[in-house]
Amino acid sequence: MHQQTHANKQGWDALADIHFKNYDIDRLLSGESLLNEVIRQEVGDVQSKSLVHLLCHIGTDTLSWALLGAKVTGIDISPRSLYYARQLMERMGVDAEFIESDILDVIDKVDKKFDIAFCSTGVLCWIPDIERFAQTVHHLLNPGGFFYIHDGHPFRNMMLDEEGEFQLGQIVGDYFRKHPWHYPEMGDYTDPTFLAPTPSYEWDWTLGEIVTALCNVGLRIEFLHEFPQYFYGGYTPYDVEDNKIELYPCTFSLKASLDG
Ligand SMILES: C[S@@+](CC[C@H](N)C(=O)[O-])C[C@H]1O[C@@H](n2cnc3c(N)ncnc32)[C@H](O)[C@@H]1O
Repeated sequence: MHQQTHANKQGWDALADIHFKNYDIDRLLSGESLLNEVIRQEVGDVQSKSLVHLLCHIGTDTLSWALLGAKVTGIDISPRSLYYARQLMERMGVDAEFIESDILDVIDKVDKKFDIAFCSTGVLCWIPDIERFAQTVHHLLNPGGFFYIHDGHPFRNMMLDEEGEFQLGQIVGDYFRKHPWHYPEMGDYTDPTFLAPTPSYEWDWTLGEIVTALCNVGLRIEFLHEFPQYFYGGYTPYDVEDNKIELYPCTFSLKASLDG
């Protein structure tokens, strides 16, 4: 495991406690999926399909897919996150499997194949090696299956200044940044006052690097959509930007298939 990934793991364990309080758990427990409409429509019908959720965190989206009929498996590096995911699974009375692993170790650890490999909302910034990530996606898919991601758009990263502070409308960052961001603490998107007292590291990937890594492992890109909305609105009860429309791409979604 990358040393920086190990630091991130500790931060995510700390954030899991906060997120279990701040995510819309009651809605999920009442039987409502927490997935946003764009994701639901773009992924389509999951009834009876096997779905693996990469970087599943406390399992809210994983279990939302289960409510929609998928046979779900979640993978995450943070044991504390998975503790909550399993607790939720039991309280909801749905079936799911949760696997603790660095996603970049999955090729050596997980043999099972899936119809759908899914991930969303804060994924690629935690990945130190995009080629290995693409190989992992390929490894997890059944022939005829597909990969879907909805994540932050790299264009938006150009508005991050050297301290990692977002400067709306100002191009202050480097789109082609090669070295990871290093923060002395890990901040939280559901509670801006909370800082986990562990360093954290994040990586930027250009759209070209993401698409090319997937093409290089033999996946066929079906679509690449760009959206002017950021994703926190509707994702947690704490709407950081509440579906505000911007004049630049804030998020993207991509579907790529493994031909059967
Ligand atoms: C922003 S959260 C993902 C949000 C998620 N969509 C949700 O449902 O809340 C990021 C998750 O990635 C996990 N993670 C970070 N680096 C990882 C890695 N290398 N391998 C597996 N999981 C990782 C963290 O533990 C955390 O649970």
